[in-house]
Amino acid sequence: MAEHHHRIRVYLASAILLLAVINTGIAAENLSQQKLTSRILQNEIVKEVNENPNAGWIAAFNDRFANSTVAEFKRLLGVKPTPKNEFLGVPVVSHDISLKLPKEFDARTAWSQCSSIGRILDQGHCGSCWAFGAVESLSDRFCIKYNMNISLSVNDLLACCGFLCGQGCNGGYPISAWRYFKHHGVVTEECDPYFDNTGCSHPGCEPAYPTPKCVRKCVSGNQLWRESKHYGVSAYKVRHGPQDIMAEVYKNGPVEVAFTVYEDFAHYKSGVYKHITGANIGGHAVKLIGWGTSDDGEDYWLLANQWNRSWGDDGYFKIKRGTNECGIEHGVVAGLPSDRNVFNGINTSDDVLVSSF
Ligand SMILES: *[C@@H]1O[C@H](CO)[C@@H](O)[C@H](O)[C@H]1NC(C)=O
Ligand SMILES: *[C@@H]1O[C@H](CO)[C@@H](O)[C@H](O)[C@H]1NC(C)=O
Ligand SMILES: *[C@@H]1O[C@H](CO)[C@@H](O)[C@H](O)[C@H]1NC(C)=O
Ligand SMILES: *[C@@H]1O[C@H](CO)[C@@H](O)[C@H](O)[C@H]1NC(C)=O
Ligand SMILES: *[C@@H]1O[C@H](CO)[C@@H](O)[C@H](O)[C@H]1NC(C)=O
Repeated sequence: MAEHHHRIRVYLASAILLLAVINTGIAAENLSQQKLTSRILQNEIVKEVNENPNAGWIAAFNDRFANSTVAEFKRLLGVKPTPKNEFLGVPVVSHDISLKLPKEFDARTAWSQCSSIGRILDQGHCGSCWAFGAVESLSDRFCIKYNMNISLSVNDLLACCGFLCGQGCNGGYPISAWRYFKHHGVVTEECDPYFDNTGCSHPGCEPAYPTPKCVRKCVSGNQLWRESKHYGVSAYKVRHGPQDIMAEVYKNGPVEVAFTVYEDFAHYKSGVYKHITGANIGGHAVKLIGWGTSDDGEDYWLLANQWNRSWGDDGYFKIKRGTNECGIEHGVVAGLPSDRNVFNGINTSDDVLVSSF
């Protein structure tokens, strides 16, 4: 009887997983071995984009991927199809359509006191984009709400969320990151840094950066893991469509977005990206920080990638807005920060003792 139940449960779980995979837009093509071992950057792609008068963007050989194969590039695209049950009970937020929004918005200037918004990070060789997009947006949201500079720890989320978030450096689920903030909190980067001497030093091990171990201890002896935790109060999806996404960023700060990456995206240098050529390589997550309209009249989103500053437009890129380019308007998630622990001394246990009286 027990075994029978078990079998039914396994069957149900596989059925749910299958449904989830079918239902999500982000799924990579089956690339050939020959393709995977070839270089990601190609002269033909640069030529095809730059000779297309309607492309709207400039392609180039980005240093960041100068020697990368398609397989190495693909490893960075760490958004896995989210199992459907991860969205159970997750609210979909929409905003008042009468809210007047500016034609152009850049979170870096709107909240210029928050230095984290303009930071460009580097995920190394790990498929941790799902964690970067979430942690970076949450750090910005703490600063916006509580007027404090803070860098939260990608490593905590990556190492300690476990299978609930996916497979660490082999990819994960953006919404699960926000649920982790709500239920478990996330420590500061200072407490648990991304690149350190016990793992791989920058820019990460070749050929892969293994998922770090969850240690639950701050590297600095006088900081307590538990007291370094910063929490979210909510985890939600933002309703599809440019108006709701803009209102969410305008009111609460940067959001995490997921989208499909094609080969041509690796070559992005400047302008407003739209897919022109190349195969679907995988799903990627980044931080969306604003919007505007180009001199050519093209509406765009403004985003911060985490491929260092030698990729793209000093680490940033723009993508066509209003047409769900590469699925970018359908994969928006976020959450709001909690004041729990925020007004404690967050560095020493003594401060915490004092403030808890
Ligand atoms: C997908 O890739 C596997 C091996 O990597 C191969 O055996 C299979 O035939 C491919 N399927 C398709 C539909 O191309
Ligand atoms: C790429 O490889 C070449 C030859 O091995 C090396 O000289 C060059 O510095 C590498 N470029 C980058 C950006 O790693
Ligand atoms: C960007 O790359 C350079 C050179 O590899 C490295 O020194 C720097 O630390 C990287 N930036 C970040 C934020 O990791
Ligand atoms: C954050 O740091 C920057 C640079 O050190 C500083 O100019 C700014 O005032 C700080 N913001 C807050 C909210 O403390
Ligand atoms: C704790 O942090 C505050 C401000 O962030 C600083 O002024 C203070 O010196 C720190 N205390 C210790 C013991 O590091």
